[in-house]
Amino acid sequence: MSNERGRDLAPDVKIPYLGFGTYLIPDGEAAAAVYEAIRAGYRHIDTAEFYRNEAGVGEGIRRAVADGLVSRGDLFVTTKLWPGNAAWGQTPKTTETTIASLDASLDRLGLDQVDLYLIHAPFDREQRLAQWRGLVALKEQKKARAIGVSNFDIGHLKELEAAGLPQPQANQIELHPWSQKPRLVGYLAERGIVAIAYSSLVPLSTWRSAPGHDSAKTDAMKSDSERADSPFKALAKKYGVSEAQVVLRWGIQQGYPVLPKSTNPARLRQNADIFSFRIDDGDMAAIAKLDRGDGVAWSVGDPTKAA
Ligand SMILES: NC(=O)c1ccc[n+]([C@@H]2O[C@H](COP(=O)([O-])OP(=O)(O)OC[C@H]3O[C@@H](n4cnc5c(N)ncnc54)[C@H](OP(=O)(O)O)[C@@H]3O)[C@@H](O)[C@H]2O)c1
Repeated sequence: MSNERGRDLAPDVKIPYLGFGTYLIPDGEAAAAVYEAIRAGYRHIDTAEFYRNEAGVGEGIRRAVADGLVSRGDLFVTTKLWPGNAAWGQTPKTTETTIASLDASLDRLGLDQVDLYLIHAPFDREQRLAQWRGLVALKEQKKARAIGVSNFDIGHLKELEAAGLPQPQANQIELHPWSQKPRLVGYLAERGIVAIAYSSLVPLSTWRSAPGHDSAKTDAMKSDSERADSPFKALAKKYGVSEAQVVLRWGIQQGYPVLPKSTNPARLRQNADIFSFRIDDGDMAAIAKLDRGDGVAWSVGDPTKAA
């Protein structure tokens, strides 16, 4: 890729590479954070029913539009269906309640349509298919311009294909130099499904270090993040940027839209500055060797792999 700001998601839908993540931003702070992000140049906002901040996100968008910073058409807004999981004592969503869920999200957001609607995670097989049918209907109703999934592995995607359903247009997954998922990413690329990267900043020592923001990083990962001879610190020095910019730039050079979250205005601006430098091929090859496997986000497992 060049310094392009976005890539095709569907024939008539382009997704900006730079997105603003909103997980762990409380509803009461989301409007100010989203407004600030839009002011800093973000045109892609990622939220979810599960984050309980859609109302605040919508308020931030409305303020930005009212102040003339952007029009709705300049923005790419993603939200996600919380599918419900019987194993956690929740009622799994059906096709009908999936459709009702996006209506409720749109009400909270104050929007007529989202640009991308995702199933947040795959739980049991019957739900996945029923929910995906709901997303297909929502796209036909034009309540979502594009539809996709999140945290789906190859087996989950194959199930949709085997059921004769349209394939997702995106899969939002944990992707960063420590979790590169080459097999899954290769599978997505072969089918033209866009991989969207979340938790890009896991290799940094500051990742979810605030009280209550459980990082789920192992002690070994935490100490590797802090090492003075960390490869990301060396690359940051070489390119005259921060470690955050290095790992985000790695993502977009791989072709992945990224979703950095920050409620710190200086970091939020820094994270948006990822189009003014390029990691050279030698350094990209060196980063390719840093893969450690599955990552730290919760995982529901691949149904094609033995339990
Ligand atoms: N689909 C899914 O299952 C899923 C799962 C996880 C995340 N996501 C999405 O992806 C987004 C991003 O993932 P994430 O929230 O896990 O984390 P992230 O964006 O990878 O990292 C955020 C953490 O890094 C810190 N940080 C941000 N910018 C920094 C900088 N320039 N220098 C140093 N530290 C910095 C933040 O602290 P401060 O806020 O204090 O700056 C926060 O602790 C989420 O917000 C959400 O929208 C989706």
